[in-house]
Amino acid sequence: MKKNKLSTKLPVLLASVAILGAVIAGCGSSSSNSDPEELGFQDRGRQLFNANCGTCHVLAHAASTGVQGPNLDDAFAAARLAGMDDDTIQGVVRAQVIRPQEVQPGYPGIAMPANILEGNDLEDVAAYVAAVAGVPGIQPPEAPGEGPGAQVYANNGCGSCHVLAAAQSAGNLGPNLDEVIPDMTEAEIRQSIVNPGAVIAPGYPNAMPSDYGTKISPEELNQLIDFLVTSAAADGQS
Ligand code: HEC
Ligand code: HEC
Repeated sequence: MKKNKLSTKLPVLLASVAILGAVIAGCGSSSSNSDPEELGFQDRGRQLFNANCGTCHVLAHAASTGVQGPNLDDAFAAARLAGMDDDTIQGVVRAQVIRPQEVQPGYPGIAMPANILEGNDLEDVAAYVAAVAGVPGIQPPEAPGEGPGAQVYANNGCGSCHVLAAAQSAGNLGPNLDEVIPDMTEAEIRQSIVNPGAVIAPGYPNAMPSDYGTKISPEELNQLIDFLVTSAAADGQS
């Protein structure tokens, strides 16, 4: 039962805290945004999380679905209940990213890569996870934009790589969707999402995740395409 898992988990976390006490104490943390309600939808930490961590970890507020690593809400719920504060959780997350530890049984063969993020990016993602992981009942923020497809766009982290004004996203690793969507057919848009390697937009890296075809349900995919077509067209014609 859950309780078992939690009670075995807690000493492990607390032990890491003790070991890493020096690290944590050495970094004056600045998690002023401990109230998740205050975190704007475009919070950098959330975007960074979706781009770098969400592929392996479930985190409810980020709407991420990765299962290669432990569910981070479950990982921190017990610690939070036991009174561990955001600053301490932030320190644990930071330490895990710098030097990943084997913290949970059941993830053999897959190691978390070290130093995925550094510096400000690491601080922002650690503060973000600390603010939202394991908070009872936490939900992802409502996505900007019209219709259910806006949520699909947000939940899948499209905005971390693409500009789309209607979604208030400003990523620049991939093409600006306000510019390219109006010139694409629906079939081309669909293919770019489910099979991004098939046609690479000139001048861009082949860096779009290739697993959206399995992560996004057919219904959600239709909603997403509808959202892209209507919102990019609305911008393009004005
Ligand atoms: C390639 C997959 C992968 C990526 C990407 C990844 N992790 Fe992990 N993470 C793991 C695995 C696997 C574990 C469990 C390690 C173990 O027990 O061996 C883990 C463990 C953790 C833990 C400890 C959880 C606990 O139970 O105490 C935290 C915190 C964490 N990751 C945060 C992050 C953050 C933040 C990022 C992004 C900067 C990230 N991870 C990116 C795979 C990943
Ligand atoms: C990690 C970054 C990244 C993420 C996340 C991402 N993309 Fe992309 N995307 C790219 C890159 C880079 C390209 C250009 C290379 C290519 O064509 O595959 C691209 C290309 C595209 C294109 C084709 C543009 C053109 O000019 O042909 C569309 C449409 C698109 N992405 C939509 C999406 C949607 C919708 C999502 C979310 C479900 C998404 N992308 C998530 C990086 C990303």
